[in-house]
Amino acid sequence: MKRKKIWALGAVLCLGMQLLACGKRQTAGEEKIHVGVTYYNQSDTFLNQLILCLRERFEEMEQEGFEITITVRDAAGSQKTQDDQVKELLDAGCNVLCVNLVDRADPSEIIDLARENDVPIIFFNREPVAGDMMQWDGLYYVGADAKQSGVMQGELARDVIKENSSIDRNKDGKIQYVVLEGEPGHQDAIIRTENAVDTLKANGIELEKLECGIANWNRAQAQNRMMQMVSQYQNKIELVLANNDDMALGARDAYEKLNFTESALPVIFGIDGTDVGLLAVAEEKLSGTVYNDKEGQALAMAKLTIALVTGKGMEDIPFVNEKYVYLTYYKVTMDNIGDYLKQDEE
Ligand code: BGC
Ligand code: CA
Repeated sequence: MKRKKIWALGAVLCLGMQLLACGKRQTAGEEKIHVGVTYYNQSDTFLNQLILCLRERFEEMEQEGFEITITVRDAAGSQKTQDDQVKELLDAGCNVLCVNLVDRADPSEIIDLARENDVPIIFFNREPVAGDMMQWDGLYYVGADAKQSGVMQGELARDVIKENSSIDRNKDGKIQYVVLEGEPGHQDAIIRTENAVDTLKANGIELEKLECGIANWNRAQAQNRMMQMVSQYQNKIELVLANNDDMALGARDAYEKLNFTESALPVIFGIDGTDVGLLAVAEEKLSGTVYNDKEGQALAMAKLTIALVTGKGMEDIPFVNEKYVYLTYYKVTMDNIGDYLKQDEE
């Protein structure tokens, strides 16, 4: 609506002053993009890498002639802090917001603020519930399909288990497994776990669940949980399914701390393909991971930002249900790790 007013004003000025210059692209600051970004916690490995990608995409777009400023805030795990940050970003004149919610079930305050200011929001990575996304038509989401990542993790584990009978260390025909789970309530936690386990079962792998430990996406917490599980189950654990790479690496840390030899370790799978995760796959410390396409997500967010401010290019965005953009995941193993390490260096 704001944009229409600016256009109308531009048209009136143009007629009144009969200036040719008015026909140029740059009308009333139309292409000045001020993006305000706030994310749930700067201790999160994946999010830090995603934000870095986002900055890079905006820098590239500046080189293409757009005038862009980006302000990034860390909400440090507090929804109240994030609400205040959104207020501050709007007061500073942001015309698009990119919000990685602290509490994905509590976006109402932020939505109200944005709506009052007629500034669209691109939520990312932490998906608001459908009902909240319907609150206003200036709301978008960029992320990935949790189910797909779980299925892929299950397929990776299936392949390794089928190829390597020694994984069933006690030879009982079943794979004893533990899960390291992300934050309760996060769309990527339970859905990843369920789909990884269901995929294994559907592929004829007999499973025995020993335990599921919540480690909130965090490497140190995962190490702690894993130390407890190893002290309880000793060498019974044959497979570790972690909802992300940091927790998979935390599991690895626990075994290293306990001085387990390589051959006594279970197979461990992560999700994300963060720099450390990919390196661990290359070094065979993780048996595989699922690439969470941060480059693709950052590019989609940057393109959507430009489209929302300029009104151009909206038709090129591959929306699902008019508001959602989901990037696809990819399986990463020792066989294709080279492609991903290279991609990361560029
Ligand atoms: C990632 C995790 C990350 C979480 C944060 C997930 O999609 O896989 O690594 O901690 O998002 O919201
Ligand atoms: Ca077994």
